[in-house]
Amino acid sequence: MKLPVPAALRKPAKPGGNGRGNGPAPANLKDVPPEERQRETHGPLDVAVEGGKDVVGWVDQRTGASGFLTGMLYRKVPKGTNWFYTLGSATLFAFAMQAITGVFLAMYYTPSPVEAYDSITHLTNEVFLGEFVRGTHKWGASVMTILIFLHMGRVFFFGAYKYPRELNWIIGVVLLILTLVMGFTGYLLPFDQRSFWATVVGVNINGTGPVVGPYLSDFLRAGAEFGPSTLSRFYAIHMLLVPGLIIALIGAHLYLVVKLGTTAPPWVRGDRPRPAKPVERITAGANGRNGGSASNGQDPSQTGGHAPEEGHRRE
Ligand code: HEM
Repeated sequence: MKLPVPAALRKPAKPGGNGRGNGPAPANLKDVPPEERQRETHGPLDVAVEGGKDVVGWVDQRTGASGFLTGMLYRKVPKGTNWFYTLGSATLFAFAMQAITGVFLAMYYTPSPVEAYDSITHLTNEVFLGEFVRGTHKWGASVMTILIFLHMGRVFFFGAYKYPRELNWIIGVVLLILTLVMGFTGYLLPFDQRSFWATVVGVNINGTGPVVGPYLSDFLRAGAEFGPSTLSRFYAIHMLLVPGLIIALIGAHLYLVVKLGTTAPPWVRGDRPRPAKPVERITAGANGRNGGSASNGQDPSQTGGHAPEEGHRRE
């Protein structure tokens, strides 16, 4: 069966190809491409597929969202892109899983010191798939933390934090801190002995920080001492404040990834200036142009065609 990709989201045609590729988006999305016209609709599945395509086309005509999506899904990546480049997407997937499982947990959780523990026990032991969803959320937190560090390591060791991606690195650092804050604030929520006392220790350590430390502790405790409001505060931070910030920052992070492109692996770049061959030196000297750049062995495709500055990187 042909993939039910609406015309608007199809890969643009390659220059020099048969001019259709998978079919460029028609100017008017109501114009059905010829190959589609011949297809007949048979069963309810075909009707459902066609209906889905119509809806996507309708939304796209009004939002132009397919431009962003095709730009993101079919963007060029540098030569040498490998499995290490999937770590960012893996982190994103882990975050999505946390968000989805978190929504289901919130349906059963009561953020009150009296009821929190019982609501979690009820969820784990009596609710259908409750233990599975809770376990996925709990282990998913560790998975996301490990993945974010691995992704950061990839970015660091591939030199992808350098110009012009410093801002994305800084956004990443904030995302890392926020991910750790999620782990810290989530830990208190089951409200058993371990989570309570671990949080007391954590908040006290926090309070020893310079200048802002004590204020931060007071903010987390919702006062000078642990009290009934502390749990609500952690809950609000854990499921409203920090996820909102993370979503906004992931949006900015991905926007910059698409805008700047990804960095080629260091061993692929290979753009160190090589000594010019004698004949090239004569040619360059004769017309006084090119500044010898024709002989540095630079292959622009290795930068993924996104960041020309990489061709001129000083090693
Ligand atoms: C919620 C956490 C994060 C998510 C969902 C995320 C997602 C992504 C994705 C999907 C990419 C593109 C593919 C890739 O290179 O893997 C990317 C690239 C990048 N990320 Fe992250 N990231 C996160 C955290 C971080 C952190 C903690 C840092 C560093 C401190 C960071 C710095 C970067 C940089 C500099 C790039 C550009 C890489 C390049 O040009 O090759 N990110 N991120």
